Amino acid sequence: MLSLPGDKSISHRRALFTLLTDEEVRIANYGSGDDCATSLTCLSEMGKRVKRNGNEVLIGGTADNKRVRLDCGNSGTTARLLMGLLAGCDGKFELVGDESLSRRPMNRVAEPLRRMGAQIELTDGHLPARITGADLTGIRYEAPVASAQVKSAVLLAGLRATGETYYREPAPSRDHTERLLEIAPDPEGWLCAHGGVAFPAARLRGEVPGDPSSAAFWICAANLIPDSKIRLHGVLANRGRNQYVSMLRVCGAGITATAPRKQGGEDVCDLHVQQATLTPLGIENANASQVIDEIPVLSVLAATLAGRSEFHDVGELRVKESDRLALIVENLRAMGADVRDWSDGFAVIGGGRLHGARIRAAGDHRIAMAFAVAGLWATGETIIDDAHCVSVSYPEFWEHMRALVPGSVRINE
Ligand code: S3P
Repeated sequence: MLSLPGDKSISHRRALFTLLTDEEVRIANYGSGDDCATSLTCLSEMGKRVKRNGNEVLIGGTADNKRVRLDCGNSGTTARLLMGLLAGCDGKFELVGDESLSRRPMNRVAEPLRRMGAQIELTDGHLPARITGADLTGIRYEAPVASAQVKSAVLLAGLRATGETYYREPAPSRDHTERLLEIAPDPEGWLCAHGGVAFPAARLRGEVPGDPSSAAFWICAANLIPDSKIRLHGVLANRGRNQYVSMLRVCGAGITATAPRKQGGEDVCDLHVQQATLTPLGIENANASQVIDEIPVLSVLAATLAGRSEFHDVGELRVKESDRLALIVENLRAMGADVRDWSDGFAVIGGGRLHGARIRAAGDHRIAMAFAVAGLWATGETIIDDAHCVSVSYPEFWEHMRALVPGSVRINE
């Protein structure tokens, strides 16, 4: 039975939302990746007391450093949620990031926040961002893009604004922020954050469920190795995050959930996967935003399935840690797959055997892990450059792959 690292999205939120309270918060199974560590570093730069012992984290004290430069590393969630959290705080803050994060669009967050009165200067629409804390006023914002990071930033800013902040998204994105803030959409889909409401620290405490986006690598791997079976312990079963599981089930996957339980306001279960023959995959507007992080590994799985899998309306892949759409297409082709692509999607005509190749991960953790899974199905050797970048979300990845598929991994120093 394999346990996954704590969910990355929930870990970021539990840590960053301590900026809403001075009470002490203990979090267990905190995400083990570099991105989650980045959120903790930012908190301590701001003056929070942060103690970490393995994956247990204790956060307390007050963020009283009012002029601070925060390095968000590779983490889009850290940068965008901090923009919302800091926009209404007294002080001057500079947010910077690594090369990949500095290429990612930040106007999508700055624009609604400015409408609320935020003073945010970007660098040509990107990081570095300079934020000067300002008085905010609630707005009604209809988002053009389905993004949990933008939604979170606006709702968090709304907590420090005068009046109510309403937010509606064009398609559902992950809802961890709403769960923690206890905000539910009205019948027309509007979410509402009330300014000045105290946030109870108790909601941040306890164990973080296992990350379903990390589980996806093993669920897909189990489906391409004949006769394999795998059991995954304590995986987050949030309906917006395990859409890929529902989708794979529709295609014939043998995935069973057992021991359903609640953990910190979220649903959790154990997953049992048994290899099965699947029909091709189909992704489009209605489900694209809810499976966006799993698409790299789903595209690899698609290459092993007889028939044409279609990935429509996935243009957001182009603005993730890399241009994931381009890297998926390039690397699948390098392994001999038949792939057609267009500006916001691609199709994989699968079923043939892949061959080993040199994979360009371009420092993108999900590309590196997805193509490591492809290597299990390919003939010959698959070489992943930048293999260490898996540490962004899943530092134990190579160790877990070795344990699950003995003899599959060799690390070249
Ligand atoms: C995340 C939201 C998604 C996702 C990212 C994590 C979050 O991004 O791709 O890995 O924790 O809110 P967008 O908000 O850009 O859709």
